[in-house]
Parts: sequence; C-alpha cells; structure tokens
Amino acid sequence: MGSGMPTTTQHDPDETPTEKTAETDELTIRPTGGADGAAMWRLARDSGSLDLNASYTYLLLARHFGTTCRVALLGEKAVGYVLGYRPPERPGSLFIWQVAVSSDARGRGLAGRMIQDVLDDHPDIGALEATVTESNLASRALFEGIARRHDASLTWRPFIREEDFPDGHEAEPMLEISPLSQH
Ligand SMILES: CC(C)(COP(=O)(O)OP(=O)(O)OC[C@H]1O[C@@H](n2cnc3c(N)ncnc32)[C@H](O)[C@@H]1OP(=O)(O)O)[C@@H](O)C(=O)NCCC(=O)NCCS
Repeated sequence: MGSGMPTTTQHDPDETPTEKTAETDELTIRPTGGADGAAMWRLARDSGSLDLNASYTYLLLARHFGTTCRVALLGEKAVGYVLGYRPPERPGSLFIWQVAVSSDARGRGLAGRMIQDVLDDHPDIGALEATVTESNLASRALFEGIARRHDASLTWRPFIREEDFPDGHEAEPMLEISPLSQH
C-alpha cells in the first residue's frame, strides 16, 4: 500500500534484504521492544492530536505487546508507531490503541503499512478494532483505507461516551473492520 518511501520490513536482519536510495534513509518497520517506548512517547507528544499518556505506559506496552506493536525507523530515527494488542476476551481481534506518524512522514501510507505488518505476522487475526474521535479525519481515512484494501466492512458502535470521561474528552466510538480473511 501507499508509495514514496522505500521500505524494509525487518524482523530478521540475516534474512531480509535492505533497500537504500540516494535521497532517503532506509525505512524499517519492526516489532517493538521495551526501549522503543521512549521514542513512542515522544512521537505521541509531538503528534498534535493524541492523548499523551505517561512515558511508563509506552515503555510497558512496547515490551508486553511487542508482537502486536510496530515502530517505523527512517535510518536511526523513529518516525511512527502502532500500539496494538489482542483484547483478552477477543483474541482473534487486533485492537489499535494508538497510531502515530511524525508530521514530516505523513501522507505516504506509513500508518497503514505498520498495521498491515502486524496483520501479516498474525494470520489468525480476523478483525481490527480502534476508537477514533469524530474530528480525527486522518485517522478515519486511515481505517477506511484498510477496510477498502481488505474488501471488508467497517462498522461503528458506541464505546466510550463523552459523559464517561471525567475530563470533558470527546466521545471515542469503536470501529470494527472485518473479516480480514486475506492478509
Ligand atoms: C492518522 C495518522 C497516523 C495517519 O498516518 P499516515 O501515515 O499519514 O496515513 P496514510 O498516509 O496511510 O493516510 C491514510 C489516509 O488518510 C488520508 N489523510 C491523511 N491525512 C489526512 C487529513 N489530514 N485529513 C483527511 N485525510 C487524511 C490519506 O489520504 C489516506 O487516505 P487514502 O487511504 O484514501 O489514500 C497520522 O495522520 C497521525 O499521526 N496523526 C496524529 C496522531 C493520530 O491522530 N493518530 C490516530 C488516532 S489513534
């Protein structure tokens, strides 16, 4: 999906070829480890729209859910991440808690490529879930694009209502994309 940056999905440096161009550093998308949490926290802080959680949250989730999280690196620099996990009561689903791409790397399909990389590694995942506020048009377009590419339906249901939040937060309805049969 997408175009622009050359990409290497690099899980095993010994088996994956690398790509370089004169203009750009190599792009790597890989599962996260504990140390990635710091860069994820910085990307969330600089995203302009995400709720910034405690740095501990990112350090913890990057470690505990590394196989369903991704970080994208341009050269040595983290330019995007996906924080996802399988809800314990629905292990066949992938819940995307946060996804962010640095402003200079947006609009080239990177967010979708990171999510697809998780799906590629987990062929048993049959549905994708996320909460997205009504005002987040880029995020809505991202998930609509994933549904379109998988030829899957995208449905919405109420999830966390505005009145559930203690701090005047916008409602977070839940979207579900399924079935994801052709990864
Ligand atoms: C949402 C976000 C992760 C998308 O990352 P990205 O790599 O730029 O996404 P893509 O390039 O794959 O674009 C996805 C779709 O959104 C569209 N899009 C991008 N920016 C948009 C904008 N500002 N308004 C409307 N649509 C937009 C693209 O055209 C594309 O649509 P298409 O698939 O029909 O071509 C990125 O904008 C971001 O980090 N935003 C701040 C953090 C955030 O809001 N995260 C989501 C909530 S968890």
